[in-house]
Amino acid sequence: MKAVYPGTFDPITKGHLDVINRVQKLFSEIVILIAYHNEKEPLFTIKERKEMITETVKKMENVGVDSYDGLLVDYAKKHNIRIIIRGLRAISDFEYEFQMALMNRKIRPEVETLFLVPHESYTYLSSSLIKEIIAVGGNVSHFVPPIVNTYLKNRINKED
Ligand code: COA
Repeated sequence: MKAVYPGTFDPITKGHLDVINRVQKLFSEIVILIAYHNEKEPLFTIKERKEMITETVKKMENVGVDSYDGLLVDYAKKHNIRIIIRGLRAISDFEYEFQMALMNRKIRPEVETLFLVPHESYTYLSSSLIKEIIAVGGNVSHFVPPIVNTYLKNRINKED
């Protein structure tokens, strides 16, 4: 069975990767989908985010990367996918995730959202925090895949 793991991934972190490692064992095919979020202004272009994810998951045979600027459930329908994967880090994620899952179900009842709990060491992690730390010269190498660390450093150096 195929599943989609959507997100902004600006950039992908080890927290996302933890979820991908878990679902990779449960489904025959996983699509990591760089999706559109109307309130976010990403630092990285879709092309850059795709490059970082592709490099990060290159050894995982059943994991692919795609992007879409429409409704997530439309993407799922178009690609014959019935499972949406989301990670739940803390209780604070719940209300937003609950709302999205119910809205997606309302639009397309045949699509189910499956929640996974990432490792507790990633509870505090978010892409925004990573960008905040790097912007003030901090080290984020423990929190992101090596390729992301390189992209972040290059971006900061360019802005200097
Ligand atoms: N570990 C650590 N951090 C994690 C994580 C994990 N396992 N999973 C998510 N996060 C962090 C992310 O880094 C991100 O941090 P940020 O807010 O600082 O950028 C935050 O949690 C949420 O990120 P993400 O999982 O990427 O979700 P999102 O809220 O950015 O994405 C979409 C939401 C894109 C999936 C949603 O808007 C969508 O489906 N868009 C398509 C259009 C659509 O269908 N809209 C209707 C929806 S009902």
